[in-house]
Amino acid sequence: MVKIGIAGGSGYSGGELIRNLAKHPQAQLCWISSRQFTGQPVASLYPNLRGFVDCRFDSLDSLPDTDLDVLFLALPHGHAMKILPRLPRDLVVIDLSGDFRISDAAVFEQHYGFPQEAPQHQSTFVYGLPEILRDRIRRSSRVANPGCFATATILALHPLYQEGWVKGPVFVDTKTGSSGAGRGPGAKTHHPRRSNSFFPYKPFRHQHVAEISQILDTAAHPLVFQTYSTPLVRGIFASHYMELDRPLRDDEARDLYSSYYADEFFIRWAGKDPDINFVRNGNFVDLGAAHDDQFLIVWSTLDNLQKGAAGQAIQNMNLICGLPETMGLDFPPSHP
Ligand SMILES: NC(=O)c1ccc[n+]([C@@H]2O[C@H](COP(=O)([O-])OP(=O)(O)OC[C@H]3O[C@@H](n4cnc5c(N)ncnc54)[C@H](OP(=O)(O)O)[C@@H]3O)[C@@H](O)[C@H]2O)c1
Repeated sequence: MVKIGIAGGSGYSGGELIRNLAKHPQAQLCWISSRQFTGQPVASLYPNLRGFVDCRFDSLDSLPDTDLDVLFLALPHGHAMKILPRLPRDLVVIDLSGDFRISDAAVFEQHYGFPQEAPQHQSTFVYGLPEILRDRIRRSSRVANPGCFATATILALHPLYQEGWVKGPVFVDTKTGSSGAGRGPGAKTHHPRRSNSFFPYKPFRHQHVAEISQILDTAAHPLVFQTYSTPLVRGIFASHYMELDRPLRDDEARDLYSSYYADEFFIRWAGKDPDINFVRNGNFVDLGAAHDDQFLIVWSTLDNLQKGAAGQAIQNMNLICGLPETMGLDFPPSHP
């Protein structure tokens, strides 16, 4: 059994890690931290997990006294970089924040607004997108788990950038549900503000553009990247609009994605009907596309707390621990 710790267990991503790992055949939940709920039963915060977890929240301070194989850090940006230098080198660390996703410290500061305090540890991390970097993840023990928007856009555009189908920039229009902002209500995330609203935020400058640019050649084909807040709880729906280098045959886009992702359990082809409803609560990315003679639209949709956070983190854990990659994640999304 893999002995698991979760820092930030009372957050939305932490809660989804607990939900998934409670039924993972090789995972033993040993340590789950929260400042606010230290000492309280985990199931008292997550009534959906009654009967599945019987442990209590620990204090973050007790981490050094805990014997773990894998530690998930599900804390706000800026905390992993403070904790990491104090951790044993042989502990597998999977960080869900942005702290170690960006290889260049100056680029990190430009996008996150504060400095990377542990730049000496940056090179020990691999970017945890299994469909693109599986072999490097397998050989690593530290993973910077990708952002939810970045996962949706990289998986949608990677085959097109590789094959040179794109002419000029790509316009990305991407929507998220409210759970993407975490459990603490803010002025723009509180239910009365969010529930019937639809608004843009962070025009051009969302921090995920930095990690996308490390994988895709955005110097050749820049991204015009716009995020929107939608009145959903879970889900990312990303639309990518671009001019084509040449006209496509009718089934050519489907054939491209089918060949690139033929062996990828978590990537599914949805044709012209991708729908956020059909990825909710599962670790899947549904891709679709439509084109005329000049332009192509590619859609990708995923659950921000699963393939966008906890599910992908567990996929990475499975790879590092030599377990089947789909273990504990091979359940279908829910509907309705
Ligand atoms: N939500 C998503 O869709 C999503 C997707 C991809 C990645 N992520 C990333 O995953 C991380 C967690 O996100 P989340 O949405 O789950 O956040 P969240 O719901 O706000 O949870 C954050 C957790 O961190 C703890 N925490 C907050 N401030 C802390 C501090 N100063 N020191 C120690 N612990 C602190 C909180 O618990 P206590 O207050 O009880 O200690 C809570 O358990 C973030 O870095 C986020 O960017 C989130």
